[in-house]
Amino acid sequence: MNSIVRSVSIETDVTSGDFRKAMRQLTGGVSVITAGRGRDILGMTVTSVSSLSVDPPALIVSINRESSSWPLVKRYGFFGVNILTSDQIDIAERFTGKGGLKGADRFAGARWTTRASSVPLLVGALAAIDCEVEDIVERHSHAIVIGRVLDVAVSARTAALAYGRGAMSPSIRTRMRRSLPRSACRRGSPHGSSDGGTPGGTGLAFLPHPI
Ligand SMILES: Cc1cc2nc3c(=O)[nH]c(=O)nc-3n(C[C@H](O)[C@H](O)[C@H](O)COP(=O)(O)O)c2cc1C
Repeated sequence: MNSIVRSVSIETDVTSGDFRKAMRQLTGGVSVITAGRGRDILGMTVTSVSSLSVDPPALIVSINRESSSWPLVKRYGFFGVNILTSDQIDIAERFTGKGGLKGADRFAGARWTTRASSVPLLVGALAAIDCEVEDIVERHSHAIVIGRVLDVAVSARTAALAYGRGAMSPSIRTRMRRSLPRSACRRGSPHGSSDGGTPGGTGLAFLPHPI
């Protein structure tokens, strides 16, 4: 890998508090990262998911190396990105560890399915993305994880959950379904697998090809 690491040369007295205050001004979409399989599962709420490249489909997420989920992401080499809808604030809060919730207990009260990687994917997420870890850059308190997209499921729902100025709130309505050709968006799996056996389906539309 051709990474360029530099030592910064200009002294600064910017504190982490100053930086945090600035970053609170940046509104971001809220996702839940999931890792592990079976009963050995963990997850966390993040706003740091970002697209890296479309061809090949890849994304990045910044994960605190002190978080409980980090060892599982590293050990299994797979993770899920579950982009939340505006009415999934309770799920977002559970996955911040609110009220002392830990481990698999955070998954209670929502329905989950799995795809190729076996990580839990949220049924009813705005989008659920199955990823394999391609690269990890451990820097300062966090690790930048590059995920290669294995599978994508897109919901018919339209309103995203956003975090900004220290609070979560409904965000922009996506126009994804409208921007996709009719043939590209359908219920069910491109591989014909089930949605976890839930009556009436998952409400997820799996794309024939990841976008
Ligand atoms: C809105 C919001 C966004 C967050 N984004 C991130 C993030 O991008 N990366 C990260 O490592 N932690 C992020 N966190 C913190 C984790 O959700 C939280 O530390 C973690 O779930 C709890 O750690 P634990 O699993 O070790 O208990 C965020 C928290 C909130 C409330």
